[in-house]
This record gives sequence, C-alpha cells and structure tokens, in this order.
Amino acid sequence: MSVTLREITDANREAVLALRVAPEQERFVGSVQGALEDAAEYPHAKPWYRAAYAGDDPVGFVMVSWNVQPQPPDIIGPWFLWKVIIDRRYQGHGYGAEAVRQVAELVRAEGATELLTSYVPEDGGPAGFYQRLGFVPTGELDGNGEVIVDLALLQTDSAGRPPA
Ligand SMILES: CC(C)(COP(=O)(O)OP(=O)(O)OC[C@H]1O[C@@H](n2cnc3c(N)ncnc32)[C@H](O)[C@@H]1OP(=O)(O)O)[C@@H](O)C(=O)NCCC(=O)NCCS
Repeated sequence: MSVTLREITDANREAVLALRVAPEQERFVGSVQGALEDAAEYPHAKPWYRAAYAGDDPVGFVMVSWNVQPQPPDIIGPWFLWKVIIDRRYQGHGYGAEAVRQVAELVRAEGATELLTSYVPEDGGPAGFYQRLGFVPTGELDGNGEVIVDLALLQTDSAGRPPA
C-alpha cells in the first residue's frame, strides 16, 4: 500500500495523536504529542512534520529539522530526521522505510546532499532499520550519546543525471 505524507490539521490531529509505539519502544522516540511539544519548544531547530498515511489510515509520523543552521552537538543539520514513529499495529509493513524514503526525496529536491539522523544504540532500537535504508555512521555522537548516521543523497541535473 502506498504511503503519503500529510499535514496535521484539525480534521486528523486526534487520530494522529492517538498513534503509539510499543511501550518498550517509547524510550527510543517518545510520542507524537511529545514530538509536537519539542517542535513548539525548539522553533530554532526548524521542525517540519507530517503524518504518514497508508491509504486512508494514519499509521505514523515523521519530523525533520528542515535546512537548519547546525549547532552541534545539540542541533544537527542542515537536514536532520528528528522523529520517525510508526504505530505498533502498523509496524513491519514497510511503512517506516517508505516514509523515510519520501522524506529523503523531499529534502533532496530542496538541494540536500545528505539526510542525517541519530538513534539510541541499544537492543531493540532502530539501528538495523536505518542501516537497511543505507544510513551509515558518521563516527560522531550527539549531545545525548546517540549515534549519528547519514544517508547520501545524489543530486542530479535537469535530465536526471548526476552532475559531472
Ligand atoms: C523503527 C520503525 C520506524 C520502523 O518502522 P516499520 O514500518 O516497522 O519498518 P519497516 O517495515 O519499514 O522496515 C523496513 C526494514 O527495516 C527492518 N527493521 C524495522 N525495524 C527494525 C529494527 N528495530 N531493527 C532492525 N531492523 C528493523 C525491517 O525488518 C525491514 O527490513 P527488510 O527491508 O529487510 O524487510 C518503527 O518500528 C518504530 O516506530 N519504532 C519505534 C520508534 C523508533 O525507534 N523510531 C526511530 C527512532 S527516532
């Protein structure tokens, strides 16, 4: 089923806020409510977020620091995948991977050459998820000791070819 990224509005806010990861996953990412609170608290991190839909069902949430001025170790960028949440009932169907691919394509279209993210390096965490998508460790940690990884994004010319 195809994934679409949609704005959060009065019409869907309640359904998106009801999305939940499994309790044992909460330490890796928190909740949609928590993400929206982070977005309000850190406007200088330039949060951009969308609900992920599979067909007409909201299944998850993504948030990006959108072309931010990096201030490491707290603000990483310019393009940083800040949150990926797929509701526990919808995990394992490829929706998370497709949502991240779409984010990567959106930021690539804005001129990004890499998409960064970070994860808690613990058992049950999303390290393998990011590895399968092609993210590789930069060798750095963020201010919370999370492993920073990046996905190279190929820029192409107007004919779709990589620049010479
Ligand atoms: C991590 C998460 C976003 C993955 O979303 P998902 O929709 O379940 O993942 P997908 O079905 O798209 O999986 C894509 C691939 O990654 C693999 N994968 C998914 N979660 C994984 C994990 N935790 N560890 C290792 N591999 C994982 C899948 O097996 C699949 O592999 P395949 O392509 O070989 O079949 C989701 O499980 C989640 O929201 N987890 C809790 C919150 C979290 O950790 N968020 C990320 C940190 S911000």
